[in-house]
Amino acid sequence: MLHHFCGMLFCSPLLTAVLQHSRRVTRSMEKRKRNTDLLIRLLQEILEADEIEHALSGSMELLAKALRCEIGVQWLLDRRTGRIVPQFTNGPIDLSNMSAEPGADIESHVIGTGEQIVLEEMVPDERFTGSLLEDCGCKVENMICVPLGNLTEVAGCLQMVNKKDSTPFTEENVRLCTRVAAVIGLTAEEKGLEVHAGDIKEVLISARDIVKEYPSGDSVLRVLKGISLDIYKGELLVILGESGCGKSTLVNIIAGMDSLTDGTLLIEGEDYSHPTDDQLTAYRREYVGFVFQSYNLMPNLTALENVQFIADIVPEPMSAEEAIAKVGLTDRANNYPSALSGGQQQRVSIARAIVKQPKIVFADEPTAALDYQTSIEVLQVFEDIVRSRGTTVVMITHNPEIAKMADRVIRLRSGVVGSVKLNIQPARAADLVW
Ligand SMILES: Nc1ncnc2c1ncn2[C@@H]1O[C@H](COP(=O)(O)OP(=O)(O)O)[C@@H](O)[C@H]1O
Ligand SMILES: [Mg+2]
Repeated sequence: MLHHFCGMLFCSPLLTAVLQHSRRVTRSMEKRKRNTDLLIRLLQEILEADEIEHALSGSMELLAKALRCEIGVQWLLDRRTGRIVPQFTNGPIDLSNMSAEPGADIESHVIGTGEQIVLEEMVPDERFTGSLLEDCGCKVENMICVPLGNLTEVAGCLQMVNKKDSTPFTEENVRLCTRVAAVIGLTAEEKGLEVHAGDIKEVLISARDIVKEYPSGDSVLRVLKGISLDIYKGELLVILGESGCGKSTLVNIIAGMDSLTDGTLLIEGEDYSHPTDDQLTAYRREYVGFVFQSYNLMPNLTALENVQFIADIVPEPMSAEEAIAKVGLTDRANNYPSALSGGQQQRVSIARAIVKQPKIVFADEPTAALDYQTSIEVLQVFEDIVRSRGTTVVMITHNPEIAKMADRVIRLRSGVVGSVKLNIQPARAADLVW
């Protein structure tokens, strides 16, 4: 009897409908809960961060992940110039040198009018002359662009682009963006974040779609999977990423120490993708300086001689004494490496890199073998090279704290650019703590 009754219940269309409805309700409650949880995590991220910019970029990463979209950009308005600056880009594109005339592009339109724009597919729209994203080689399929600010003023916008499964963004997605934008806008105001767009930056090095493969048994190991980025004159650029993600491989290619499998490398506009031996020799000798984690000093030469040795083979060096003085080692100039501490040896190797007066200094985990205090001293030398000499420095690290001193941080994730962040107020090396 009971069996019969249950059978009837399970067949009942009413019950099926009730079950379906309750499943829908549960699903929608779960979704709401997920969104609420996400908002709480975002709030925590923002409120707990010691520095506003980190809070903002951290929350953007969470949002892009939650919406499952390819790219998220946080644009901020520079009130002095009216230009908008991409302060944080989550995704494989580097927008660092992009900014728009007021009203001309989607992003600045949103900032100018305070309205939100949701596009299901990118159809030509007469309101906009182009898309900053498309100028960067990004194929936009769909997008949400919402203003960022408080009730009275717009401070920028949040732009979320290309849902990974190619489905359009939902209303719920838009609501979430609006709420996150409100939190970010209020916090930015509360903490007094000021934005200065700066001048259009001069590009020294342009890498486009760089691929690097190593043979591995019968197949190939694809270590760099299409990396595009620019390096600007006079900036301190940090390449950040977990061990094994391809940082050294990338920098070795850019610094002329390794070859690329595919892609284009331009040095001041000249194609160095497949350089001749002469090009390569001149580039390595005169244009770049390199600092390694292991100091690579000649043990049978003194500190000064290690530097002099390089000064002797380049066309326009500074004096070896000056380079040694710049790294604060004048009183140890006549010591052999074995009589110097790790930090002092690393400073000799920095002197050896800068004595050439190179346009750009690459440093691959220069403080990885040093203790905290010594690391700070070495980082201060790099800071001085950039800030007082205007030399471009590209520093690799896996330490996110070191990234705070950069003008820009490019984070690599398994051979692709994961995010690009503009530090509007770079930290001083002396203030870093880990
Ligand atoms: N010469 C090589 N041959 C084969 N695989 C390599 C070679 N050099 C690096 N790799 C591999 O490429 C990946 C990235 O290495 P690397 O650029 O050194 O990473 P990171 O500097 O970020 O720690 C690693 O998996 C590493 O094992
Ligand atoms: Mg490495």
